Amino acid sequence: MIYQKNIERIEELVENQNEWRSSTINLIASENVMSKRARRLMGSDFCHRYAEGHPGERYYQGTEIIDEIESRVKQHLKSLLDCEHLEVRPVSGTVANDTVFSRYIRPGDIVMVNSTSGGGHISHHRHGSVGKYSSNIINFPLMPDGYHIDVKETINILERVPVKVLIMGKSLYLFPDPVKELAPLCRDKGIALIYDAAHVLGLIAGKRFPDPLKEGADVVIASTHKTFFGSQRGIIYSNMKDTDWIKIDKGAFPGSSSNHHLDTLVSLAMTTFEFIVFGEAYADQVVRNAKTLAGALEKRGFTVEGKEFGYTQSHQVALNVKDLGGGDEAARVLKDNNIICNMNLLPFDPLSKATNPSGVRIGVQEMTRVGMEEKEMETIAELMKRCLLDGKYVGEDVRDFRKNYQIIWYSFDDDFIALEKSKQLSCTHGKV
Ligand SMILES: Cc1ncc(COP(=O)(O)O)c(C=O)c1O
Repeated sequence: MIYQKNIERIEELVENQNEWRSSTINLIASENVMSKRARRLMGSDFCHRYAEGHPGERYYQGTEIIDEIESRVKQHLKSLLDCEHLEVRPVSGTVANDTVFSRYIRPGDIVMVNSTSGGGHISHHRHGSVGKYSSNIINFPLMPDGYHIDVKETINILERVPVKVLIMGKSLYLFPDPVKELAPLCRDKGIALIYDAAHVLGLIAGKRFPDPLKEGADVVIASTHKTFFGSQRGIIYSNMKDTDWIKIDKGAFPGSSSNHHLDTLVSLAMTTFEFIVFGEAYADQVVRNAKTLAGALEKRGFTVEGKEFGYTQSHQVALNVKDLGGGDEAARVLKDNNIICNMNLLPFDPLSKATNPSGVRIGVQEMTRVGMEEKEMETIAELMKRCLLDGKYVGEDVRDFRKNYQIIWYSFDDDFIALEKSKQLSCTHGKV
């Protein structure tokens, strides 16, 4: 067959990816792994189907079953996140962002965001989603450490400048943004406070990171696959009035999507139940692991950002690798040793350094999900030291180490349930 070689090659590449990535230490801060049960639900007949509109009010026939599933996902996510309104149709965090930004930002509006080197996401900027609606974008002023918004100076600016929208939440996100400090002034001045929880949704749901809705944000956007360990999608949630929520609803459909990838929605149902039961134990371990890894790296001679504030309160650790050839070089050396992370601008890096910034960003959520705890963080720090600081090859050591971490914890997978029973782990914190 004329395409035989191509077909075989694609199949082989997918096999290679499965084998390789399950034998690496994956520290990409925006990724995670789904449980086997959640993954098995993908690729069902739903991957062929359409369901525009809301359950019970579709524009297609044959949607009764997805209607029930979608209603259940929404109901349980709403109770997990303790909110009145929740939108599950955006197919990613960026689409969720665009849905909300399109409803709040008008041409010429002044929008205040976290700068790119201060951790803001590209969709908050001129070349991303916000820039489609207004080019009047200003940055939050930062404290000298670069990881905290200067609240006093922000209030100063908001008193003088007619800002319409604040966007908080970041991609490089070590410490919480000051939502509760700024929400009262936003309310007084009619400034919309949008919170992008793409990275920290799992920590918020697991009660290990401040809850932006409780702190006064008008609306929260998130990805469902970073610290929240589901399929790749986006959500929007809020306690706003029904009459205001309609704008978001219309923004999701028909504004930014028609069909919404039903098989990934189905697997999100499984993740939601896993989160209700295991979320708090997982989030607690994630934050403990991040703090432990940061300390273990510093002890071995790395420069770890945020030291004076305890390094991190999230799943992330930021390393300053300026003296190791920069973020591009350091991330490449790590990858060649089967340790995967990404280069990252650090606060105050000029944008011209985007292709070789001063930092690398590390996230521990995926390795936590495969059962790693504090002692494993020490091992990871040691492996990173041996390859980055001592110049040794540790790729085979990484593979050997990772062999022992193939069960997906905090899940309803049979192998995890068996492990939980045999070791009398107590990951269960709630009920579905
Ligand atoms: C703060 C922030 N918002 C939005 C996104 C976009 O999310 P997604 O990749 O789901 O489109 C990201 C991605 O990493 C992010 O860091």
